[in-house]
Amino acid sequence: MGRDVIIACDFASAEKTFEFLDKFEGKKPFVKIGMELFYAEGPAIVREIKKRGHKIFLDLKLHDIPNTVKKAMSVLSHLDVDMTNLHAAGTVAMMEAAIEGLTRPDGTRPLLIAVTQLTSTSEERMKSDLLINEPIDKVVMHYAGCAKRAGLDGIVCSPLEAGKVHGACGDDFITVTPGVRFADGDVGDQVRVMTPAEAKRIGSDYIVVGRPITAAADPVAAYERCCAEFIG
Ligand code: C5P
Repeated sequence: MGRDVIIACDFASAEKTFEFLDKFEGKKPFVKIGMELFYAEGPAIVREIKKRGHKIFLDLKLHDIPNTVKKAMSVLSHLDVDMTNLHAAGTVAMMEAAIEGLTRPDGTRPLLIAVTQLTSTSEERMKSDLLINEPIDKVVMHYAGCAKRAGLDGIVCSPLEAGKVHGACGDDFITVTPGVRFADGDVGDQVRVMTPAEAKRIGSDYIVVGRPITAAADPVAAYERCCAEFIG
């Protein structure tokens, strides 16, 4: 498994996405397609980006009854993405069903990672709205353990938590970490941030970077800087 930079293509249309990707010319960065772009353009956008030679993380965060998730994952497996995800809150049974659905007849499948608690959920809200009366980091680590038990490949977490997750679940359990910012860059609405170099030191396997690249004056240079700090 290689460490890599994943660009969050948070665009509202195929046109804007291709306008952005065309800037990379010969380079083929690993890209994340989220709900906005997928719901706007459908599976065609996945096929088109794949055809252009990019690796794809399809970030749709599935969460439903096990049978429904299994069947949805089976559909996604035909899209030939490299990584996809679900909510660990759907239970171990749902995650096991997801693996079953995602696995192709030849035994291969995309990487499957779990979202634990969304970073937008505060401990206070988790207690009042979800009635979970445990410290949030304990909940995140518990969900990580459930994901591992279900046979998933890793979790989405803050780069600050990546070391702890590896300590508890093993070095080969993948940590995919958003919330990355350059030391001299804008933090925006992210609260707990880390530079690509720090994320590398702590042991993130993949960093998901959106605006520091997509909103940069020179996105290709920003991507290359990210790769140099995180991989190089
Ligand atoms: O622009 P920025 O670098 O903040 O983008 C981060 C990406 O990672 C966005 O697509 C955002 O939805 C996603 N993400 C996140 N925090 C999470 C899970 C996903 O920022 N906990």
